[in-house]
Amino acid sequence: MSRRFKNRIEEKNLIISLPMKVYRFISYNFKVFKKNAKLWRVEHRGMNYGDGAYETIRVYDGWIFAFKDHIERLKRSLKVLKIDFPVNEEKIEKEIMKLLKLNRVKNCAVRIVITRGNGLGLPPPKGTPDISIMLVDIDKKIEDYQKKGIKAIFVENTRLYDFSIRGAKTINFLPNILASIEFEKMGAQEGIFVTHEGFVAEGTTSNIFFVKNGVLKTPHLDIGILAGITRKFIIEIAKEERIPVEEGFYKKEEVLSADEVFISSTTREIVPLVVIDEKKIADGKTGLLTTALLSAFKKKVLIK
Ligand code: PDD
Repeated sequence: MSRRFKNRIEEKNLIISLPMKVYRFISYNFKVFKKNAKLWRVEHRGMNYGDGAYETIRVYDGWIFAFKDHIERLKRSLKVLKIDFPVNEEKIEKEIMKLLKLNRVKNCAVRIVITRGNGLGLPPPKGTPDISIMLVDIDKKIEDYQKKGIKAIFVENTRLYDFSIRGAKTINFLPNILASIEFEKMGAQEGIFVTHEGFVAEGTTSNIFFVKNGVLKTPHLDIGILAGITRKFIIEIAKEERIPVEEGFYKKEEVLSADEVFISSTTREIVPLVVIDEKKIADGKTGLLTTALLSAFKKKVLIK
């Protein structure tokens, strides 16, 4: 088999855009339904406007990882969106545990979506916000990406980071969706947003880090990126290990000339970026610090 052909097959295997599997039993307003139940009206604001907030949380061996951090961020997002929903941590935790049992699953992602509820029109009519909770399968290929790394492209986005809802995790995801169509077309597996000032921001569903001369660098939250929970843990681990950490404003060129680059997210944990815009990062292989951080992170998720 020619090398080029083999590379093409490998590239094909790395395409992430498979539909994410949702487990059979879901919860809507704290009642359990089968996932194909007809729950939303045509006036639903989630469907009409993407008017809501969400969280993706990981469950490791039946343990909801960093639950408190996710609940805090969900509350912050709802405050920014002015959605008046009483987030009851215990009630949500119980519901997730119930779904884990019903679906007989111990390792998965949980997606919690809170919307402003039903009612067309602007300003929004006084409706009743609603909450959906579902369990989602974790892509088996992630471990492969973690070892070998993936390709990414830079995506210029002139408006996203000027937007007033910056920092909130909203279900209004169009810029990210469009960027994902673009990176898939380019045979890559992630797109990294660049602001109109030319600053590297974050991935379509991840934060970005890079290493230069032993310093771990990541874009500053003031850019308007999502305060990733995995990002927070990585910074903590690095500080524990006495690795210098810098949060700043970086241009594409700095990332391209880094010694190592990786992305972080709840579902993918840490995944090296070995090629960006068709340029190899260093020798095009997963870096040592990236590997060390991933193994330290994996240890953290096992400690209950
Ligand atoms: N996405 N930035 C964006 C735009 C994201 O969508 C995500 C997470 C992150 C990383 O945040 P965290 O480490 O808290 O997962 C950064 C989740 C996984 C998702 O879209 O389902």
